Amino acid sequence: MELERLYQDLSVSEQKFKTVADYTSNWEYWINPSGRLEWMSRACQKVTGYAEEEFFKDQHLLESITHPEDATIIRDHLISIGSNAPCTEEIEFRIIHRDGTVRQIQHTCQSVHDASGNYLGRRSANRDVTSQKQAEKEKHYLQAQMLQSAKLASIGTLAAGVAHEINNPLTILLGNLSVLVEQVPIWMKPEFRERFDVLAFQKRVQHMEEAGNRIAAIIGTLLNYSRGDCGTYPCAVDLNQCVVETVAFCKTLLQKSGVEVVCDLAPERPFIVGNIGCLNQVVMNLLTNARDAMDSVTGERKIVIRTRCQGDLSQLIVSDDGAGIPGADVTKIFDPFFSTKSPGKGTGLGLSIVHTIISKWEGSIEVQSKPGEGATFTVSLKTAAALPKASSQKCAA
Ligand SMILES: Nc1ncnc2c1ncn2[C@@H]1O[C@H](COP(=O)(O)OP(=O)(O)OP(=O)(O)O)[C@@H](O)[C@H]1O
Ligand SMILES: [Mg+2]
Repeated sequence: MELERLYQDLSVSEQKFKTVADYTSNWEYWINPSGRLEWMSRACQKVTGYAEEEFFKDQHLLESITHPEDATIIRDHLISIGSNAPCTEEIEFRIIHRDGTVRQIQHTCQSVHDASGNYLGRRSANRDVTSQKQAEKEKHYLQAQMLQSAKLASIGTLAAGVAHEINNPLTILLGNLSVLVEQVPIWMKPEFRERFDVLAFQKRVQHMEEAGNRIAAIIGTLLNYSRGDCGTYPCAVDLNQCVVETVAFCKTLLQKSGVEVVCDLAPERPFIVGNIGCLNQVVMNLLTNARDAMDSVTGERKIVIRTRCQGDLSQLIVSDDGAGIPGADVTKIFDPFFSTKSPGKGTGLGLSIVHTIISKWEGSIEVQSKPGEGATFTVSLKTAAALPKASSQKCAA
């Protein structure tokens, strides 16, 4: 009677554990000490397309469905854990599902022992993370696309400034050129040669040369904005020059918004270790944010940009009298895609790009602000000491 009750209890208990094991959503299995499959969860059908019986019948099925390029991952893993060592590392490999698709598997395993400590083999748990990996890949791709469009948007802002800046010297160049084209043939005639005014001619050519140089300088600065990877910073970059260039580019934009920019630049001319194109992006992002923050300000709108040398650090400080930042937002403003601007106006990437660039250069950025009392952003970067103080145009990226 007692034995019968014991059998019954055992069968209930076994049923309970079997149910749990059968209904696990992971593809799990147990390999005994002689390397044969002892048990496999039903989920193998969903994850691999093969039923448990097929794995039992073909003891090499596990290896044959492993993606050929990942076979070494499993081999190395098995070597590294030995036979009955505990396993802490998680590995990832691919399998080829029965339907021909490739699935990404996350694998952990551990050695199994009975109550007396005898080794019973290894139990493995495999999770299909294909869709999770795909989603991560798509997220990265979208983020890269957003960063690219933010860069394009800032180039768009620049293009407006460039068009305006180039227009003036171009008008001077073309105006003088058309006068010369018209008059030179006349002066060449013998009856007019005596009236040829050399000085006036020289002056026109000089104006043209100046205008041409101005255009070349503007294009040079524009090229500075597109200089590549902010992670590489082989040069000493002139912080003051960067401020002056960026303010010049944003001049039209700022004037249109009725914003006055005051530059208070350190006489020591701080040079930082960085990359001119990326530093220009930093200044421009801070400047456009300051301008936007003053949209709601009636009366005087002023941005103050200061540079200063503080021991080993060079600082760039941008202050505005705008709306300020609510306390709850201060911790979020450097997050990608955080924006309080209306849709279509801000991507929320400006400050996150600034933060990424500054961090890559091992610098820091801090903000001080109170709602209604404007904001001050302070960027601190290592002062360039040993590096050659390259002219920004020649700085290799
Ligand atoms: N000077 C500032 N004054 C007040 N708020 C600011 C200032 N600078 C940034 N912010 C706040 O931080 C948010 C994030 O700024 P960020 O530059 O990252 O994005 P954005 O300006 O909204 O969009 P984008 O830079 O892509 O045009 C802004 O939406 C704004 O709420
Ligand atoms: Mg911005």
